[in-house]
Amino acid sequence: MIIAFANQKGGVAKTTSTHNIGVALAQKGKKVLLIDLDSQASLTISLGIEPLEVENNIIDILDKKKSDVRKCILNVKENLDVITSTIDLASIEMEMLSRASREKILDRELEPIKEEYDYILIDCPPQLSILTVNALSCADGVIIPTKTDYLSYRGIELLMDTITEVKELINPKLEIVGTIATLYNMRSKDDNDILDGMKSVYNVLGVTKMLVGAKKGIYDGLSVVENEPNNEISIAYKNIADMLISGKYESEVK
Ligand SMILES: Nc1ncnc2c1ncn2[C@@H]1O[C@H](COP(=O)(O)OP(=O)(O)O)[C@@H](O)[C@H]1O
Ligand SMILES: [Mg+2]
Repeated sequence: MIIAFANQKGGVAKTTSTHNIGVALAQKGKKVLLIDLDSQASLTISLGIEPLEVENNIIDILDKKKSDVRKCILNVKENLDVITSTIDLASIEMEMLSRASREKILDRELEPIKEEYDYILIDCPPQLSILTVNALSCADGVIIPTKTDYLSYRGIELLMDTITEVKELINPKLEIVGTIATLYNMRSKDDNDILDGMKSVYNVLGVTKMLVGAKKGIYDGLSVVENEPNNEISIAYKNIADMLISGKYESEVK
């Protein structure tokens, strides 16, 4: 199953969610490929990898030159591989836009390896750009991490329009798996109101509280799930991994 983690807003925990759910799935014995589709390379860095030290990355897959996708895959740990990104990714967007197959470049390039993974998780950039459209055009499902504040909540509508368009025009199999309510502050009335609103409209797969523990492992290339396996963020992400494995996404968080 290919899942895009998308939201045109930055700082809503797309990268954190991709990383942690990926590690949780790998720990449960699933073969996982993470794809960093953001020129800020946050996912790459979070995995403890220096973006510029990797010889072949996502750019080799998306640019016009024919490259072997397998050469761009790096093994991180057991069951967990990654295709990394670098800052140069931003500059190939123009080239992508000029191509006839522009929305399906990633989909086509991943074709030879799709069957080799149980899950391919794509960390999208914070724009509704050609890169995000490429992720949505090859995904089976999309997960939308969203902060529990009003503007983030309203931002989902815009993303939904893009998802609907991609589904109608390019990728009919695309389904919305659900949202993750992130950076939740349970003491804030606003956060609670937004969370209630979110649950009434969208399928909320899980809620991650705002906790300092979220950032601790990053310097060592560790996810929260590895660094503090029993904290509430880890439990929420591991629970979402279980939902993906069982195929039952209907939210249990009520
Ligand atoms: N549950 C959490 N509690 C506290 N900080 C978090 C939590 N989840 C993510 N963060 C932090 O919030 C920031 C933005 O998260 P990130 O995953 O990079 O968002 P995005 O990919 O959407 O831009 C990062 O510094 C990350 O470490
Ligand atoms: Mg990110």
